[in-house]
Amino acid sequence: MPALVLLGAQWGDEGKGKATDLLGGSVDYVVRYQGGNNAGHTVVVGDQKYALHLLPSGILSPGCTPVIGNGVVVDPAVLLSELSGLQARGVDTSKLLISGNAHLITPYHQTLDKVTERFLGKRKIGTTGRGIGPAYADKINRVGIRVQDLFDESILRQKVEAALNDKNQVLVKIFNRRAISAEKVVEEYLGYAEQIRDYVADTTLVLNRALDEDKVVLLEGGQGTLLDVDHGTYPFVTSSNPTSGGACTGSGIGPTRISRTIGILKAYTTRVGAGPFPTELFDEDGEKLRIIGGERGVTTGRDRRCGWFDAVIARYATRVNGLTDFFLTKLDVLTGWEEIPVCVAYEIDGQRVEELPYSQTDFHHAKPVYETLPGWNEDITKAKSFDDLPKNAKAYVKALEEMSGAPISAIGVGPGRDETIQINPFI
Ligand code: GDP
Ligand code: IMO
Ligand code: MG
Repeated sequence: MPALVLLGAQWGDEGKGKATDLLGGSVDYVVRYQGGNNAGHTVVVGDQKYALHLLPSGILSPGCTPVIGNGVVVDPAVLLSELSGLQARGVDTSKLLISGNAHLITPYHQTLDKVTERFLGKRKIGTTGRGIGPAYADKINRVGIRVQDLFDESILRQKVEAALNDKNQVLVKIFNRRAISAEKVVEEYLGYAEQIRDYVADTTLVLNRALDEDKVVLLEGGQGTLLDVDHGTYPFVTSSNPTSGGACTGSGIGPTRISRTIGILKAYTTRVGAGPFPTELFDEDGEKLRIIGGERGVTTGRDRRCGWFDAVIARYATRVNGLTDFFLTKLDVLTGWEEIPVCVAYEIDGQRVEELPYSQTDFHHAKPVYETLPGWNEDITKAKSFDDLPKNAKAYVKALEEMSGAPISAIGVGPGRDETIQINPFI
């Protein structure tokens, strides 16, 4: 059985955690391939709610091996506290595997993330402040610290000292902050080594062997397509590739082994942090979406910006990810509107534009062109099949499918595992 990718089709928080958890019972491995603890994935199992940041959502499925792939940036303190939090709730975390090639987030990355944002002032990205950007910058700059470095004290010391040489100059002379002691960082990180050692593995080898044996591997994205450093709304993006290409590089699984790429798509749109968002609402409807949808960040507690569904973005996600299916989430949140506007194109400087403009300036000027679809009032949270949905909800889903360029194979009608309408099986 080949591998599947599950990723965010908008600006993150589409409901990837729920979708991954739903598939967790039918797959053998769930792999995070990029990002770090900037992610916040909510999983609701019965009356239990879990917020996962770094660990793959498959960790809640007993038969599934969770994997942190080489493309992830790992904050070891967060890792250990997330693990102990789950263990205290009776979750078996012993199967976790972590790539030795994954990079580590260190205290200086977090400090740099925060001071850089502060200095950007009004131009700030609105990052999660978790050190994600600076950790990836070090990786690309070839001065990063990897998980495997924890097990060689002299390499760890050399690398931390080298990295802090120039970073301390920047911190002290530019940002007016105190220098960070290399020795303290080394001491702290050596303290994590033994707690992490048993989880560390050659995950690329493990995953490819698993695929050879017909096991099912699910690659779980963090963030979303429009936050991708290459394909997103740069510079208002994260510093990794949540898009499907990132699933290959971040796991060491080749593209020929991936059979299905599922885009998680919210029935409306949200965004956290700064950056363009054509369908953003500043009125009562936006407030209503935020309240009914519970749109508050799992990681930072910030209110999410809310707006109507944007089909231009959905089409773009289909294109840059090669999506085979969509999982449409949070349809239940739209219950109760008389009419629901959907953005079908943009107007930019008087011209109608059907595709996402590649120019940042154009995208900043994009105004949504709406079509209005009739709403519904019936409670849909108990719907089990597509036919259980009211006529107008069905028409809404069909219209979104038509505009988005890939079949909608599942629909979320509530946060719980069983609050899902499966139209086509994913596996
Ligand atoms: P992720 O980052 O993509 O995993 O998404 P988040 O967990 O940050 O945000 C999605 C939120 O929507 C969470 O609170 C989920 O429990 C919730 N959720 C997911 N699917 C549905 C759905 O179909 N209906 C409703 N009402 N809530 C959902
Ligand atoms: P999940 O996986 C929504 C946003 C931040 C900021 C930008 C850069 O839960 O969907 P970073 O800390 O990554 O350098 O911040 O990206 N961001 C997210 N927005 N969901 C996420 O993750 C996000 N992870 C980062 O708000 O705008
Ligand atoms: Mg989230």
